[in-house]
Amino acid sequence: MAVTRPPAHNRRRAATRTIAVALAATIAVGAAAVAIPAAQAATTLKDLATAAGKDIGFALDPNRLSESAYKSIADSEFNLVVAENAMKWDATEPSQNSFSYGSGDQVASYAASTGKELYGHTLVWHSQMPGWTNNLSGTALESAMKNHVTNVATHFKGKVSSWDVVNEAFGENGERRSDSPLQQKIGDGYIETAFRTARAADPNAKLCINDYNTDAINSKSTAIYNLVRDFKSRGVPIDCVGFQSHLITGQVPSSMQQNLQRFADLGVDVRITELDIRMTMPSDSSKLATQAADYKKVFQICNAVSRCQGVTIWGITDKYSWVPGVFSGQGAALVWDDNYNKKPAYDAIASAFGGITPTATPTVTPTVTPTPTVTPTPTVTPTTPTGGCQVSYSVNQWNTGFTANVTVKNTSTSAVNGWTLTFSFPSGQTVTQAWSSVTTQSGSAVTVKNAAWNGSIPAGGSQQFGFNGSHTGTNTAPSSFSLNGTACSRA
Ligand code: XIL
Repeated sequence: MAVTRPPAHNRRRAATRTIAVALAATIAVGAAAVAIPAAQAATTLKDLATAAGKDIGFALDPNRLSESAYKSIADSEFNLVVAENAMKWDATEPSQNSFSYGSGDQVASYAASTGKELYGHTLVWHSQMPGWTNNLSGTALESAMKNHVTNVATHFKGKVSSWDVVNEAFGENGERRSDSPLQQKIGDGYIETAFRTARAADPNAKLCINDYNTDAINSKSTAIYNLVRDFKSRGVPIDCVGFQSHLITGQVPSSMQQNLQRFADLGVDVRITELDIRMTMPSDSSKLATQAADYKKVFQICNAVSRCQGVTIWGITDKYSWVPGVFSGQGAALVWDDNYNKKPAYDAIASAFGGITPTATPTVTPTVTPTPTVTPTPTVTPTTPTGGCQVSYSVNQWNTGFTANVTVKNTSTSAVNGWTLTFSFPSGQTVTQAWSSVTTQSGSAVTVKNAAWNGSIPAGGSQQFGFNGSHTGTNTAPSSFSLNGTACSRA
C-alpha cells in the first residue's frame, strides 16, 4: 500500500501555495474594502502544523485507541504517528526469524485510515532487544541484525516514510555506547551495516539516526554530527537525524536551534522525535506555565530550521506517559493531563504557529459596496511598532556563496502582528533560498515577509529567518533595514 501523504518537502510546497492563494484572496477582496481571514480556519494543532508544512506527531499505543478521548485527540490533533513500542525488535521478532507484526500493523492501519504519515521506530536499538539475541556471538548477532532489518523494513515498505534505523548508539561523552551488545559484539561497523541493509530493503524510506541528550551542541551530538559527515563523505546512506528531546521543564538548551541547523547544513533532514518536558511532581500553575513556554520554544526552533520536518510528542496524556516509570518523582510531561484536559502547553504550541483561528468564515458578497463586517485577522494587517526595531545580520560565506541568519527584534512597547523587513544588497548579492520567511528580490531590493507561523513579535521579542545567497566575491552587508517601513537599529 502506498504512503498516504506526500513527502514532507512536497507538502511544504503545497502549504506555500495555499498561503499564496489566501493572500491573493485577501488583496482582491481588500480592494472592495472587505477583509476576510487570510487562511482557512485552523482549529487544531494538526491544521496549524499542516499549513506551516510541518509534521506534528505522537507516539501511539494501539491498545489505547479503544478509549474514546484518546482516539479523538489522536485523530484530530496529529498528522504523523509513530509506534511507541509496537515496531521494536522485541515486539516484531520475539523468537529468532519468526516475525510478529500484529501490533505494528495496527499502527500502520491506523495511520492509513486516518491519513497520517507513519514514522518507523526503531530497527536497531540496544534496548528492548528480544532475549534470544543474548546468546548470539558477534557474527551471529550481525546476521540476526541484518535479517531483522531486512524483514521489518520490507514488511512496512511503502507504509513507513522514515525509519529510526539505529537508536541511541552513543554515550554521553561522545564515545560509542559501551553497554550495547551490538557495539560490544559487532563493533563500530554495526551502524553502517544497519543503514546499508535498511536502504537495500526499502530504498524509498528516509533513514535516520536517533538519540537523546543530543538537543544541545555537546560531545554526544558532535559525535553524531561527525558520523553523519563521515557517512555523507563515503556514500553510506543516511537522510535524517532525530533528536528525542526528552527535556526537563525550564531547560530547553540555548544552542538547540544552532545544533539542528548544523546538522541540516550537512544535507540531512532533522526532526524532534520524542518530545516530552517533565517536571518534579506535583505540578502547579507556575511549572505548567514554564512547561508551556518550553513547548513553544521547541516548536519555534523546528519552525525556524527549514530542514526540520516536524515535532513528535511522546504520547498524548500524562496518564500513559513513560516518564513517571523511569524518572522517579517526575511527570506531567505531555500536553494533555490525566483527564485529557488540554494543558497550557497546548495553546503555547498553537501560538508557535500563529494561534488557532476562528472557525466561522464570513461570506463575502461580490456586489456594490459591501459592508466591512469582519475584523481582519492579526496576521493580515501589519502594525508598525511604535518604538522601533533592531536587526542582527550574520553571515557565513565561502567563494561565491553565503548563508545569512537574521534576527529581527521588536524594541517597541507593542506587539508586531505581521512583519515586512526591507533592505538593499550593496554588492550585487542574490538570494537563492530562504527559510522561515517569504523572501522576494527585485534588483538589489529585498523584501522579507513573515512565514505563516512567525508573524507575531511580542514587545521585546524577536523572530529569526535566514537565506542562502550568492555573491561575486564581495559580500558587503546591507547598511540599513526597515521593519514595516520603520528604520531599525543594528545589533
Ligand atoms: C519507551 C516507551 O515509551 C515505553 O513504553 C517503553 O517501556 C520503553 O521505551 N527513547 C526511545 C523510546 O527511543 O523508544 C523510548 O520509549 C523512550 C526513550
